[in-house]
Amino acid sequence: MADAVVVEARGLGKSYPQAGLPVDVLRGLDLAVRPGEVVAVLGPSGSGKSTLLNLLGLMDEPSAGEVLLYGRPTVGMPTEERALLRGRSVGFVFQFDSLLPEFTALENVMMPARIASSDLSAAEADARELLALLDILPLAERFPQTLSGGERQRTAIARALLNKPGVLLADEPTGNLDRRNGEAVFSKMRDLAGTLGVAVLLATHNEYASRFATRMVHLSDGRIQEAS
Ligand SMILES: Nc1ncnc2c1ncn2[C@@H]1O[C@H](COP(=O)(O)OP(=O)(O)OP(=O)(O)O)[C@@H](O)[C@H]1O
Ligand SMILES: [Mg+2]
Repeated sequence: MADAVVVEARGLGKSYPQAGLPVDVLRGLDLAVRPGEVVAVLGPSGSGKSTLLNLLGLMDEPSAGEVLLYGRPTVGMPTEERALLRGRSVGFVFQFDSLLPEFTALENVMMPARIASSDLSAAEADARELLALLDILPLAERFPQTLSGGERQRTAIARALLNKPGVLLADEPTGNLDRRNGEAVFSKMRDLAGTLGVAVLLATHNEYASRFATRMVHLSDGRIQEAS
């Protein structure tokens, strides 16, 4: 199973209407990500990185092609089934962390379990384990406004992993951090991909992501150009 594909784009196309005319952002893009991989998607602003992540995370529907999760086609899937599959399989981290200010770091990490009304004591144990893996367990009882940007982003990563998703999608997770904190976040993602076997796909402008990614791909002309 080592090379089982977790998330895959096949011939993925996306166009948006701009000034009344459709503009092709993605044009027949192919990409497959396996457990333990950390794939960094690089590309200029507007090249379609966020569009790609949103499609792979089932947040949006493609104009053409297919998104497969665990080999299962998802296009045309009923909304509820999509939402369920997304909740179980995909974790998201964004550029600006979206922690809830009135909850502690631990409570924020446990939020997906609260929303799903799952067993809270099991969720707390999992949340503490993730905080420990991210080296922020001592900060569990702190509120977001007392944490640094890097600590908040690591909390957001822990939250994204609580439901044990197979895929972690991160859109500019270090865009708001200085280099030292950015490297710490990338390094933790790399560790987690290895220890938890998560498939990580991150969009970034930061060239130093290359030191932490297992694979770099460039998005241009709506397709992936693989780089060594
Ligand atoms: N909902 C939308 N409606 C119309 N156009 C859109 C929409 N979302 C994205 N676009 C356009 O699609 C193109 C790709 O946008 P996208 O956000 O995917 O780029 P990006 O590579 O993530 O850029 P950045 O590095 O600035 O985040 C842009 O030209 C953008 O204006
Ligand atoms: Mg973007």
